[in-house]
Amino acid sequence: MVIRSSVVTGDALDILAGLPQESIRTVVTSPPYWSLRDYAILSQIGMEDDPDEYVASLVRVFDEVWRVLRKDGSLWLNIGDSYTSGGRTWRAPDKKNPIRAMSIRPPTPKGLKPKELVGIPWRLAFALQASGWYLRSDVIWRKPNAMPESVKDRPTRSHEYLFLLTKSERCYYDRTAVPEVNGRNLRTVWDINTQPFSEAHFATFPPELVARCIKTTSEPGDVVLDPFLGSGTVAAVAIQNQRAFIGIELNPEYVDIARRRISQLGGRLDQWVEEVG
Ligand SMILES: C[S@@+](CC[C@H](N)C(=O)[O-])C[C@H]1O[C@@H](n2cnc3c(N)ncnc32)[C@H](O)[C@@H]1O
Repeated sequence: MVIRSSVVTGDALDILAGLPQESIRTVVTSPPYWSLRDYAILSQIGMEDDPDEYVASLVRVFDEVWRVLRKDGSLWLNIGDSYTSGGRTWRAPDKKNPIRAMSIRPPTPKGLKPKELVGIPWRLAFALQASGWYLRSDVIWRKPNAMPESVKDRPTRSHEYLFLLTKSERCYYDRTAVPEVNGRNLRTVWDINTQPFSEAHFATFPPELVARCIKTTSEPGDVVLDPFLGSGTVAAVAIQNQRAFIGIELNPEYVDIARRRISQLGGRLDQWVEEVG
């Protein structure tokens, strides 16, 4: 089977099922967050009424990721948290942060109270652990330029989680690839500014964050996967680091954005990369 760098339009679960097993060295991805944004497209993940249903949808996708991942491969998973709605069933457009606007919002799920932090990242991490993944590290992505929030009864959130999960006890990890000052081992709190990508109407990965993940857990020539590609940041950083990539994205408009971004970087799609299997 020949693997090619490609961007595929479709539902992550369906497309992953067609990829050869154990062909991917590392996965870097940021799935849609729960109840944050309506991408207005059928089969989208994130609009489930209940956080448990949302976690179950993602576990199904990551079970398929497990199959395509090499035994020494890893998964970097960036996931944000959400608050229950406090009784509102819609969110007004936020003037400071227009991409947060959406038309519907699930009512407070059973077992939770209004205005509560749901704890999505750890719910998902524990579910993936139960499904067989090795939870190797949590990383706090601290955002020095975090957006202000119009809240007066709790601190403004200025971080997100990134989890490093592996398929086996022993995975590929190059501790020298991203040294800290004095050559120290990389720490678990990463200070990285958010960086808007002009064409996208949703939050995109800062390339620096993706570069750290790709460099530590893959080698040049390896294949990097993002099953929720969005504007194509993971593909762009893979190209800049001589890795091949496979990106899956449900929304054809975002696929166009990603393809444009890749060609502007001189990246070739459908390029022969390696034979596996
Ligand atoms: C948080 S965004 C990813 C942003 C990306 N990291 C970037 O830098 O642009 C999540 C993406 O997942 C896509 N998505 C939602 N449900 C999906 C599904 N079932 N299969 C594939 N993609 C999906 C959304 O359209 C959205 O572009």
